[in-house]
This record gives sequence, structure tokens and C-alpha cells, in this order.
Amino acid sequence: LNMFAADLDLWKNSTLNKIVQKGELRVGLEPGYMPFEMKDKKGEVIGYDVDMAKKMAKELGVKLTLVPTAWDGIIAGLITDKYDIIISGMTVTQQRNLEVNFANPYLVVGQTVLMNKSLEGKIKTAQELDKSGYTIVTKLGTSAEIAIKKFYKNAKIVTFETEADAVSEVLNNNADAFVYDQPYNLLFMADKGKDKLVHLDKALTYEPLAWAIRKGDPDFLNWLNNFLRQCQEDKVVDFSNELYNKWLVD
Ligand code: ARG
Repeated sequence: LNMFAADLDLWKNSTLNKIVQKGELRVGLEPGYMPFEMKDKKGEVIGYDVDMAKKMAKELGVKLTLVPTAWDGIIAGLITDKYDIIISGMTVTQQRNLEVNFANPYLVVGQTVLMNKSLEGKIKTAQELDKSGYTIVTKLGTSAEIAIKKFYKNAKIVTFETEADAVSEVLNNNADAFVYDQPYNLLFMADKGKDKLVHLDKALTYEPLAWAIRKGDPDFLNWLNNFLRQCQEDKVVDFSNELYNKWLVD
């Protein structure tokens, strides 16, 4: 059996090998994006992605370290090796894919609109909000920002550092609508949105969510895709449906 030096180097330098050698999986994520990663009352980070990361570490036989990171700079942090992988509800975009590799999607979401209730009846679709005089808000550096810049040519667009700050603008009547990933909007609506917002829940975009890793690492990518596939196929006893039901179905 021959193992060529180049192959051996590839494996030695693979993130997968380093994780196993160090006995640690470092996961970059930005809490605040429910139900994927958010802080509970004790300040602990919980959610769909966190449970998935725990399962991943368990299968790798290593300990898990969560590395909370601001969204702005989360890709830079991966590239500079602050963590091994981003598990943070990240949408696969062609722009991001120039900088990182993505494993296969684990879920698909789309952008929806949380509109100020004062517009109920007057506005029935996301399209009708595209008029000067209306203000649309979202979080900086997200796929939602890309989407609204594409969809809204006449309305005013304002972005905020966090999703919570952005949606608050609508609650406080400083903006007319908040555009963001549908699972977040559903939960926000059920919690703080009642009597104050209207959910225009027709998805405006198609957004696969996937784990991001550094480029040039086929060993790690191979492990992740096979792990994901197994989890999805094992859904009766394993986390795919279990996690979905726990975090995404009320
Ligand atoms: N899916 C959106 C995007 O990729 C938002 C993700 C935000 N994730 C987070 N953990 N804050 O741009």
C-alpha cells in the first residue's frame, strides 16, 4: 500500500486530524439567532446548532468549545483559525462560497417580513412595501441585507448590528418592516410580536443553511458530509427529526 507524501501532508494538515489530535472541536457561532443559537436565562448558549455541535463533537470523540463571535467578522475568524467550523445558521451564498467551503445544507429557510401592525390591511405583500416613505430594516452583513437591497429599490433600507436591534425599530415605530430568516420571525412573532406586528410569511428567497470550513480541506469536508447524511437518515432514532421537533416546531 502506497501513501504519497503529498497525501500524507494533506491529512496531517487537515482540520479533522488536528481536531482529533488536540481532542477539541472549536465552533464559531453568533448567539442571538433563535432558535439556532441564543442565550438562555443563565447566559448559556443553547439551540439547534448547539445541539448539532454537541453531537458532532461526540461522534469525533472530542470535547466541544463554543466560540461566540460577532457576525461581522465570523468568516475572518474562521480563516484566521479562531475556530474549526462555523455552525451559525449561515446561508450558502455564492459570495461567501468564494471565501469558505460549505458542507451540504442541513436545512433550508427563506426571508419573510415582520410588518408594523399599523399597516395591516393597507399592505398585503412584501412587494407593496417598496415605496419611498417606507423604511425596511435588517441585520448588517446577512443574506437578508442582500435580499432587501435586491427587492427594495424605492423604500429606505437601514441595517443594524444585531437582529434584536433591527426588529425593535419596527416595534418602536421607527421602521415599517423587518426582513429576516423565517424561523426567527416565527418565534419573534409568537413572543413579542403579538398585537404589534403582522407576519408576511411567504418566503422571498431560497436559503440553504450549512456549516462553513476553510477551503482546501477535503478530509474534513468528507467527514462532515457523511456525518450529516447519517444523521439525516437516522432520523427516527437520531437528531434530524428530534432536533427539528425540539427547536423548530411549536
Ligand atoms: N441566514 C442568515 C445569513 O446567513 C442569518 C444568519 C445569522 N446567524 C447568526 N447566528 N446570527 O446571513
